Amino acid sequence: MHLLPLLATLATLTTALPSTSLLPRQSTTTRICNPTTSLCHIQLSPGSPDKPLFRIALPDTPSPPYDIILEIVSPTSLTWTGFAWGGKMLRNPLTVVWPNGDDVMVSSRWTTFYGLPRAYPSATYKTLRSSRNGTHWSVEVACSGCSQWAGQQQLNDTQQFGWVSSTRTPGVPSPANVNSPLYVHTSTGQWPVQLLEARNAAGVLQEYVKAAGGE
Ligand code: HEM
Repeated sequence: MHLLPLLATLATLTTALPSTSLLPRQSTTTRICNPTTSLCHIQLSPGSPDKPLFRIALPDTPSPPYDIILEIVSPTSLTWTGFAWGGKMLRNPLTVVWPNGDDVMVSSRWTTFYGLPRAYPSATYKTLRSSRNGTHWSVEVACSGCSQWAGQQQLNDTQQFGWVSSTRTPGVPSPANVNSPLYVHTSTGQWPVQLLEARNAAGVLQEYVKAAGGE
């Protein structure tokens, strides 16, 4: 067979493919409102089923401090997942979560160097719900101390958030210990987020936390 007709056929086949199948999946930020609870959150998705996704709900309080609701949904291939409130690893509150039996542990961390972050008592968490099934584990928390932190830092209207996750096994050597060491992450990402998209009337947020048994 001549080479030219073969190349022409290949070219036709390639152009006939939908172009999206050749592109990487896009990460998205979407505002979603739950008609039952009236709570609206912004959903941050790295756009790939093997990555975690995050949902955040804030009150419409004009400036910090305020409590924030964070939900993290992780595929079971992830041994731990982290969220960085200032968008980077250093000098901002880090929320780290991992499954432990039927529970999900929520660990508050902070670091000033690129090594194992230590416990960070200035951010505290109430677990509103958690779940685990054959495909995912998830946890929803209310955080006090994630909107503002040392060094006069606080969330901005256009905020950069960061995330990390790990597929290492084990990722967390002592999963029952909330201050367990961690093996370093295998994926990282960042989003710029318009915080307006995550805002709720303060009463709606309080009601939501109360109904979830958080207070
Ligand atoms: C377990 C020990 C850890 C080690 C040794 C470690 C190390 C590192 C290093 C070396 C980088 C820079 C990667 C690059 O060259 O771009 C990095 C980035 C990052 N890490 Fe960690 N990390 C650890 C745990 C964590 C935890 C628990 C979080 C929680 C959220 C986290 C969040 C981040 C984020 C958001 C980035 C990207 C932004 C940035 O570079 O600051 N890390 N980490």
